[in-house]
Amino acid sequence: MSMIIEHEPPYRVGYFVGSLAQASINRRLSEVLINLAPPELEFQEIPIGDLPLYSYDYDEDYPQVARDLKRAIEESDAVMFVTPEYNRSIPGALKNAIDWASRPWGQNSFARKPSAVIGTSVGAIGTAVAQQDLRSILSFCNSPQMNAPEAYIQTKPGLFTDDGECTDDGTREFLQGWMDAYLEFIKRVLTVVPPPQPRS
Ligand code: FNR
Repeated sequence: MSMIIEHEPPYRVGYFVGSLAQASINRRLSEVLINLAPPELEFQEIPIGDLPLYSYDYDEDYPQVARDLKRAIEESDAVMFVTPEYNRSIPGALKNAIDWASRPWGQNSFARKPSAVIGTSVGAIGTAVAQQDLRSILSFCNSPQMNAPEAYIQTKPGLFTDDGECTDDGTREFLQGWMDAYLEFIKRVLTVVPPPQPRS
């Protein structure tokens, strides 16, 4: 049985930062991840801050900002979510963006799009519950997810620098390994294994 790689690298990764805060530690983490990523991955942020609150009243005629969101996801080979935990779930802005992208019914932009979830917080178990919530949402949106390794990164003062470096060797190596695993996951999802041919 031969395998077909649907796309050759580079792979385009659209990434979401779940926080709208200017000083977001998750935005810092996204910068570190992009710096550590293998060269086969190209990154483009998919912005969420200008979306109105979703309602199905918009389904007949999506505003341009929501059309842009859906197109950015559809043009990506994979998506990455870097999210904080707000009250044991993902921030409302991120959930709103996912709701927009998942609709109108039958036009879910996440369908079959490989995804990965990561995040950082000050507390030791922070982002863990938010990430589990996000995994449940992405499952419903039919997005194949990288199951392992999981990544719950505890932020300490000075861990991430302004120019996107990670100052802790162990954390940097872990994040590097996470990005390498993400590339392998994307390749696997984009690889088609054709069904066996009937015998003549
Ligand atoms: C938080 N924070 C937080 N942290 C956590 O580990 N679990 C939680 O449930 C919450 N809940 C929560 C709610 C709200 C409304 C805010 C604003 C914050 C703290 C949070 O981890 C911290 O503010 C991080 O700095 C958030 O990441 P960003 O936004 O800086 O990327």
